[in-house]
Amino acid sequence: MRPPTSELEALTAKYRGRRQALIQVLQDIQDRFHWLPPEALERVAADLGVPLVQVYGVATFYRSFSLRPQGRHTCVVCLGTACHVRGGQAVLEGFERRLGVGAGQTTPDGAYTLERVNCLGACALAPLAVVDGRYHARMTEAKVGAVLAEAEEAGKA
Ligand code: FES
Repeated sequence: MRPPTSELEALTAKYRGRRQALIQVLQDIQDRFHWLPPEALERVAADLGVPLVQVYGVATFYRSFSLRPQGRHTCVVCLGTACHVRGGQAVLEGFERRLGVGAGQTTPDGAYTLERVNCLGACALAPLAVVDGRYHARMTEAKVGAVLAEAEEAGKA
């Protein structure tokens, strides 16, 4: 979702001239739009009086910031060794088929982002998927539909 200019103005204007608020304003934009669009970073630089290179420096330093559009829901599938040998690849393919996108991509409607990671540090639960912060241990391809429906339902609450 690209940010409407007026909404972006409202978000950054309250931090005008406050260089020390750089992380906070980026967090506000990330929370609202689920990513940091280039026009938002330019506006932050102008409003706070911070060089654009410094804004990008912070935006790329913290993993909680994304420079690519992110969906309202995030699905993470682990493909570390333990998860891989217990069927992680089939789980990932299940998500890819259901969502119609590959790992690292977001659905065109902005609903879901699919990511793969190498090890979530909970190998006893393999294969593991995390959807909107909720762990799904011993995940299977057959459970993908139910897990997505659950995320959809929770998002309406
Ligand atoms: S390999 Fe998946 S949690 Fe460690």
